[in-house]
Amino acid sequence: MGEYYWDTQIEYLRNSRDLFYNDDYIEFLVRMVWKIEAPVHLIDFGCGYGYLGLKLLPLLPEGSTYTGVDLGGKLLEEARELFAKLPYKTEFLQGDIQEIELERKYDLAICHAFLLHVPNPMEILKKMKDCVFDTGKVITFEPHWIANASNFYLHGHEQSEFYQLGFLQKLYEQDAARSGKDGNIGMKIPVYLSQLGLNNIECRVSDKVNFLHPHMEADSQNKLYTRLVESGYATAPGEERDVFIRGLIERGASQEEAAIQYENELLLSKAFHMESYLTYASNMKITFGTVVR
Ligand SMILES: C[S@@+](CC[C@H](N)C(=O)[O-])C[C@H]1O[C@@H](n2cnc3c(N)ncnc32)[C@H](O)[C@@H]1O
Repeated sequence: MGEYYWDTQIEYLRNSRDLFYNDDYIEFLVRMVWKIEAPVHLIDFGCGYGYLGLKLLPLLPEGSTYTGVDLGGKLLEEARELFAKLPYKTEFLQGDIQEIELERKYDLAICHAFLLHVPNPMEILKKMKDCVFDTGKVITFEPHWIANASNFYLHGHEQSEFYQLGFLQKLYEQDAARSGKDGNIGMKIPVYLSQLGLNNIECRVSDKVNFLHPHMEADSQNKLYTRLVESGYATAPGEERDVFIRGLIERGASQEEAAIQYENELLLSKAFHMESYLTYASNMKITFGTVVR
């Protein structure tokens, strides 16, 4: 059997996370929105290398603890190594979220870019709810791909040269209908939390709009450009043209739509460079609600 996919994606995860939120926005959520003033026990579903723990623990009251659950052994190894140097109480559980049994002993069940990868998000959200004490919270940070696709401007080009939103909208919808895994789930979680009986549900949008331009300080320009490229932005279609097209047709595209998408991705990979003017926002949706029983 090959290596577990997410264990091979540590670099991608590390590079892409900084494109989503400004640190001051996360601090704003913790202090002004969630108003967390006493120590909390967190559990992070699909924690990866512990991204959310690394962001949240420094902002939380002393004595807060972090439990991460993930299938990826290498990701958890990386997480254990990172947290070994930090003063927080942490625990990492390796297992399939579909099977793992969790006690009700947490104040907050959180996840980041995770629910879009499960075929049964409602059941997993219920699992998140079930492991939280009464009056605790479920907090999800999940993508909304179609908003992401529309939130960029590459100077000198019309957006439609790269992204045909109507086509992508249909493609994402068909993928979700077929597999249950939904890249637009961020926008639906308020509904799901409501259906699960949570109270005080709110949804926010990630704040960060990345701005790359030729007049910025060279080190920041290089860092942002590299981060965008390494996180997959504007990469050339990897496969041969006909393999790429066949793949899209299998996902429900017409021959013509697939050919246009190939040309668009190729064009973007050529048009985008270090000296480009680019604005780009990931448009993650941050949804939270209170558990009442
Ligand atoms: C896009 S990554 C996000 C990781 C981390 N939350 C972050 O934002 O950096 C999705 C994560 O979900 C985990 N995952 C996917 N399906 C899982 C499952 N059934 N059980 C446990 N973890 C799972 C993967 O191993 C991966 O680490």
